[in-house]
Amino acid sequence: MPSEPSFHIGPIPIYGRVILSPMDGFSDQPFRSLARRLGSAISYTEFVNAQDVLNTHPHLHLRLAFLETERPVTFQLFDDDPERLLQAALKLRPYNPDMIDINMGCSVRCVSGRGAGAGLLREPAKIARIFRSLSATLDIPITGKIRIGWDEDSLNHTEIARIIEDNGGAAVAVHGRTKSQAYRGNANWDAIAEVKAAVRIPVFGNGDVRLVADIGRMREHTGCDAVMIGRGAIGNPWIFAGLDRHEVSQPQVRQMVLAHLEAMQTFYGADLGLVLFRKHAARYISPYGLTPAQREDLLTSQTAQDFARLLDELALQPAMA
Ligand SMILES: Cc1cc2nc3c(=O)[nH]c(=O)nc-3n(C[C@H](O)[C@H](O)[C@H](O)COP(=O)(O)O)c2cc1C
Repeated sequence: MPSEPSFHIGPIPIYGRVILSPMDGFSDQPFRSLARRLGSAISYTEFVNAQDVLNTHPHLHLRLAFLETERPVTFQLFDDDPERLLQAALKLRPYNPDMIDINMGCSVRCVSGRGAGAGLLREPAKIARIFRSLSATLDIPITGKIRIGWDEDSLNHTEIARIIEDNGGAAVAVHGRTKSQAYRGNANWDAIAEVKAAVRIPVFGNGDVRLVADIGRMREHTGCDAVMIGRGAIGNPWIFAGLDRHEVSQPQVRQMVLAHLEAMQTFYGADLGLVLFRKHAARYISPYGLTPAQREDLLTSQTAQDFARLLDELALQPAMA
C-alpha cells in the first residue's frame, strides 16, 4: 500500500484510484475481495433494498458479509423512501461498514419505476432530504452513485451532485449514461467532467472503462478522483493491477479461476458456489476459442475437480483474431 492516501472520503483515506463498481450478482464478497487484493481501492457491496434490511431478508447476510481485508467497505442501499433509507442505514451501522452509499443509478423498471435507483433523479428535493438526514444522523460518510439524468431531455447531473454535496454527501460516483439509455450508447465523459468541476467532494467516473489505457483517458478527460470499473472487470480483475486481459498468461488465468471458484464455494457452499461461479467462468474463458461443446462441458462441470481437470485438458490458447 502506498504511504500517502490518494484522497479522502470524509475522514477515510483512500489508497488508489481505481474501484470495482457495485454489480448485482457479481460484486459479492469473493469477487470484491480478489479485486481489492489486486488493487481496487474500495469495496462496494451489491445494492441492497432498504425494505429487505428492515424486514431482515434471509439472504441479506450474503450481500453484506465482508472481509476485514476489504476495508474500506461501502454498503450500498436503494429505496425511494427517505425514512426507510435512514432506518435501514441505522440498522446496518452495527455491522460496521466504513461508508453507506445511496443508489441513484439503477435503471431496471422494478426499481426506477417506483422512484428508487435512477428514479430518484426526478426528485431532487427527496435526494436532499435523504442526504441531509443520513449524514446528520450517522457517524460515517454517506456517498451517492448517480446517472446523468432520467433521459436526454432532463440531464441534471451537476444539480444532483451539488445537492449531494450541499446536504452532507461525502463523494459521488457518476455513471455517464441516462436512465433511458440503460447500458446503450457511449458513456458521456464530458458530463462526468462537468460534475467534477461543479463539486469539491471526490468524484468517481464510471462507464466504458474496458482497458487499462481507458483508466488514464477517463481521468485525463474528466479530472475525476477515481475511476469505477464494472463490466470491464468481469473476467478481468487484473485490470486493477494494471494488466489488460491479453497480458495475463494462461497459468495466471488458471490460478485465478480456481482461486475464485474456491472462494465462492467457501462463501456459498460447494454446490451453490459452483453454480454461481459459472457466469464468472464464462467471462474468464471468453478470450479462448473454445467450441460450443467444450464450453458447455466446462460450464456445466459438477465439481471443482472436474472443472480444474477440463481446464487443464483444454490447454487454453487465445483465439486467433
Ligand atoms: C450486472 C450488473 C449489475 C449492476 N448492479 C449494480 C448495483 O447493484 N449497484 C450499482 O450502483 N450499479 C450497478 N450496476 C451498474 C454498474 O455499477 C456501472 O455503473 C455500469 O455497469 C457502468 O459501468 P461499466 O461500463 O464499467 O460497466 C450494475 C451493472 C451490471 C452490468
